[in-house]
Amino acid sequence: MAVDLLLGLQWGDEGKGKIVDVLTSNYDIIARFQGGPNAGHTLEFDGIKHVLRTIPSGIFHDQAVNLIGNGVVIDPVVFVQELDGLDQFDIDYKKKLIISRKAHIILPTHRLLDAASETSKGKAKIGSTLKGIGPTYMDKTGRNGIRIGDLEMGTWKTKYRNLANKHEELIKFHDVDIQYNLPEMEEEFFKAIDRLKELSFIDSEEYLQQAQKNGKSILAEGAQGSLLDIDFGTYPFVTSSNTTAAGACTGLGVSPRQIGEVYGIFKAYTTRVGSGPFPTELFNEIGAKMAKVGHEFGAVTGRPRRCGWLDLVALKYTCQINGVTQLMMMKGDVLSGFDKLKVCTAYKYKGEKITHLPYNIEPENLTPLYAEFDCWEEDLTAMTTASKFPKELNEYIEFLEKELEIPIKIVSVGPDRTQTIHR
Ligand code: IMP
Repeated sequence: MAVDLLLGLQWGDEGKGKIVDVLTSNYDIIARFQGGPNAGHTLEFDGIKHVLRTIPSGIFHDQAVNLIGNGVVIDPVVFVQELDGLDQFDIDYKKKLIISRKAHIILPTHRLLDAASETSKGKAKIGSTLKGIGPTYMDKTGRNGIRIGDLEMGTWKTKYRNLANKHEELIKFHDVDIQYNLPEMEEEFFKAIDRLKELSFIDSEEYLQQAQKNGKSILAEGAQGSLLDIDFGTYPFVTSSNTTAAGACTGLGVSPRQIGEVYGIFKAYTTRVGSGPFPTELFNEIGAKMAKVGHEFGAVTGRPRRCGWLDLVALKYTCQINGVTQLMMMKGDVLSGFDKLKVCTAYKYKGEKITHLPYNIEPENLTPLYAEFDCWEEDLTAMTTASKFPKELNEYIEFLEKELEIPIKIVSVGPDRTQTIHR
């Protein structure tokens, strides 16, 4: 059996959680492969809305095992809060939730360092979620990190102390006013570690290889979006992991030859939280309407999301680097009743028309060029079949399919599991 991948193609918040939840009934294992609690995957079903941070979005399905892979960074404090939030669902964690020994741990001082680093950047700040993601991946690649498997060894607390001391020196180096009480944070952290240790830690790459041999189906769940990828995103305004397809191989220990379908998720328009360039951003009442109708506020930080038209140049780029085989368009319902719709099909870059994403997409160099479409009036949220789609929506979808040369297989028309239309 191949490992299928599900990835966000924009700047995150495309609706990955919802689609993983919808697809989970087809899979035995759902595996997160990168990122950490900077993610907020929102799921809605049976009148309940739930936000997951580190736990994979298959957790609500009885048949699925949920794996947190080696590429993920785990904050024990947030993780335990997440477990507490799931109490009402009566989930057997011992069986349904397994963690790679090679996943790295976010320490309290990683969070503090994130805050110190961001504050010291002033206006040039990344707009981080401040969950300690960057500093934890820095310690991973710097070969200083503490991993889940270390918790099973006797010596990890010495390693912890040395690293935390070093972090405190680095916080001082940033020379900014960060107030904190480390002993209090550590008490909460060590308590959370004890709870975390009740779960099953495994050699996950071996587990996945065996699972495949035994015919189990696996879905790898991406977090953030491809334009936040540390290599291919809008650097330095990115997250610190590979959010693209290659990240699933390194973040789970599966080979490229084992990858099957690559599901790419995008919104019918574009949003971004945090700083960084966003060529099709709208600063007018149209953008404000998208934000209002689409409830565009961050699931983790509550920050308002920036909104703009769909950027087909960027979307083509992320389809290519991920090898997307099927597309899923989210939030088409949000656009109902707009006067006209626009899609960016090229950029004017330093006076020339280009159709690829250049190295520098800062606004002073680049103006988006748009195709314009009539919009549909109909409310899509109660639709259950694509045969009822208005003509204008079909034209919009077919234009995108033609340009991207990839079929749009799912159109989501609302946040609930049931508001998912297969084409
Ligand atoms: P960090 O990964 O928390 O340091 O944040 C780096 C950048 O990625 C910031 O612009 C964040 O707003 C953005 N970001 C991180 N995680 C997410 C996410 O799950 N959805 C959308 N944006 C995110």
